Parts: sequence; C-alpha cells; structure tokens
Amino acid sequence: MTLILALESTCDETAAAVIDGELNVLSSVVATQEELHERFGGVVPEIASRAHIERILPVIDTALSDAGVTLEQLDAVAVANQPGLAGSLLVGLMAAKSLCLALDKPLIAIDHLQAHVYACRMAAGKDVFPCVGMIVSGGHSSLYHCHSPLEFETLGGTIDDAAGEAFDKVASMLGLGFPGGPALQRTAEQGDAKRFRLPRPLLADKDRLEFSFSGLKTAVRYELFGPANPVDSEQLDPQLIADMAASVQQAIIDCLIGKALLAMKRTNLTRLCVGGGVAANGPFRDQLEQATEQNAYELHLAPRSLCTDNAAMGAIAVERFNAGLFETLDLEISPGLRR
Ligand code: KG4
Ligand code: ZN
Repeated sequence: MTLILALESTCDETAAAVIDGELNVLSSVVATQEELHERFGGVVPEIASRAHIERILPVIDTALSDAGVTLEQLDAVAVANQPGLAGSLLVGLMAAKSLCLALDKPLIAIDHLQAHVYACRMAAGKDVFPCVGMIVSGGHSSLYHCHSPLEFETLGGTIDDAAGEAFDKVASMLGLGFPGGPALQRTAEQGDAKRFRLPRPLLADKDRLEFSFSGLKTAVRYELFGPANPVDSEQLDPQLIADMAASVQQAIIDCLIGKALLAMKRTNLTRLCVGGGVAANGPFRDQLEQATEQNAYELHLAPRSLCTDNAAMGAIAVERFNAGLFETLDLEISPGLRR
C-alpha cells in the first residue's frame, strides 16, 4: 500500500498527515498559531514563518507516530508549495526536500487550492470531477471549472478582499477576536440579520463572476462608527453587535451563493464542490444546501474538519503519485495565484 507524508504550511497552520493510496487518512496533525496572531487581528507573515520553523519537525514526528509509520516506510513526501505566504511556504518546502534528499524518496507538489477542493472528493468517497470548485477562505474566494483533480480553469475570484478576510475584519471591528469567522457566526446567532441593510457588491451583475468585499467592510464601519477614528468596539451595545454580525454574515453568504449559482449556470455543470475555512460556516452550509437542492445540483461540501487548513487534504498527492508526477529537488515556491 502506498504511504505518503503530506505537509502544509501555506499560511498560519503547520500541518502534517499520513495518507494511504486509498485516500485513508492514517493521521492528521494541525498546529495552529492563532494565539500568536490574535493581538494583531490578522496573520503576521514574519511571525508565521518563524512559528512554522519551530513546529514543523514535532508535527511531522507526531503525524508519523500517530499513523504508526516510519520514515523509511514512506513512498513519497508531498508538500503544498503554492499559493501562500512566501516565508511560510518555504518552511514546508525545505522540510519536504530535506526528507526526500535524506531518505531518497520522491517529492510531490501540492496546489493548496486544488487540495481544498479535493477535501470534497475525499468526503464523497467517489469521483466528483468535473465540477465547479469554490474555495472560500481567509486568503481566497475563487471559482473554478475543475476538469479533473489536477486541471483547474479559473472562472472568477475576488477583486479585493477574500470572504474570510471580510469575516475577520468585521469581527475585529466588533471586538470579537481572531480568527473572526467562528466568533462572528456564534455572535450572529443572537442577532437580527435584517436590522442593517448592507450592500451585496457585484451580486446583481450577472456578467461578472467576481466578488468584492472591501466596500462591505467600509459600509459596516460607517454604520457603526460614522467618521470616528480610531474605532472603539467597547462602546457598542451587545445587541447591536449581534445584529451587525448577523447582517454582515448574511450579506457575505448572499454574494457567495449568488456567484456559485451563476458559475453553475455558465458552465452547465451539475456538481458543486466547496471548501476553505468559510465553508465551515453553519448558515452558509444550510443556505447553500437549500439553493443547490432547488436547482437540482449535486453539492459536495468539505466536512468541517477539512475546511480550514490541514494536511489531510494533501491526499490529492495520491493523484500525482499515481500519474507519476514527481518533482526534482529544484522545486520552488509559487506564492501568488498563477491563474
Ligand atoms: O482555509 P483557511 O483555514 O485558511 C486560508 O487558506 O485562508 O481559512 C481561514 C478563514 C478565516 O478567515 C476564518 O475566519 C474563516 O476561514 N472561517 C470562518 C468560519 N471558520 C473559519 N468564517 C466564517 N464562519 C466560520 N464558521
Ligand atoms: Zn487554505
């Protein structure tokens, strides 16, 4: 049985997983850095890369021992080398290359965004391609025509902030901490989503498969604080915070679902696969399920445990292994979006 060690360090999660050739996840370890970035209200790249250096070896050791697998038993080492923060990507890549060099094992490259969609394939337990792939995370809000697990064609993306960034920044304005998405969702449960009429940028434009969330953030800011600077979330009434959280969450969800349905219509595909941290959002999941059901589309949502960054979705490396797609030790990082 093929055994692959997959590494993930594209942003602020240091992760390793051992996967077999049948896509069984034998172990999956994720070391988060939330506590390091919390006081800055966002991921600080320099802090992230230093923390990866400290964590990567213990995380690999734990993944191997949890799986009961030794380094020698591995058939390949896979690593997400794109896209992401340059310093963070480098730590994972250097660890993977070092293991391959020392153990004389093949190296496999993982595209982090393809891996997010592949989380849906893993959960489905069957082929889900071709499909529309949607990735909604802290760094990305993208739509793809996924011809196969490894062949993605860009349909659209965000022209400014990512959906997760909008959750995080509004949560920070509301004094809800970091990462903001889960906190904002919890707060929104007590709120009235109809209290504030917020913009749904680009939603009405049926010619554009694009998102824009920066105006939404500004609208929230003016609604709450007017021209005041700096903003002070401690002055805000708890009910107002909850109502704003619910209103913003709904505005983001409306934009995401609207464009996902537009992508389905444009491509004439019937399967939609959705991954990334924001796909863990409860109301988003519920409303997307309803919307796709009404249109008779087949929806594959990544399970919550595979939505936020992890190395188990690095199981996509099995596809590359089976296709004989290996890299030399000259492999480089590719921080930006190529497509
Ligand atoms: O996929 P991910 O772990 O990292 C990136 O590749 O960016 O996504 C992290 C993002 C953060 O912005 C976080 O606030 C958001 O996903 N997120 C959520 C929820 N859980 C995580 N956003 C909304 N609701 C949630 N329940
Ligand atoms: Zn991600």
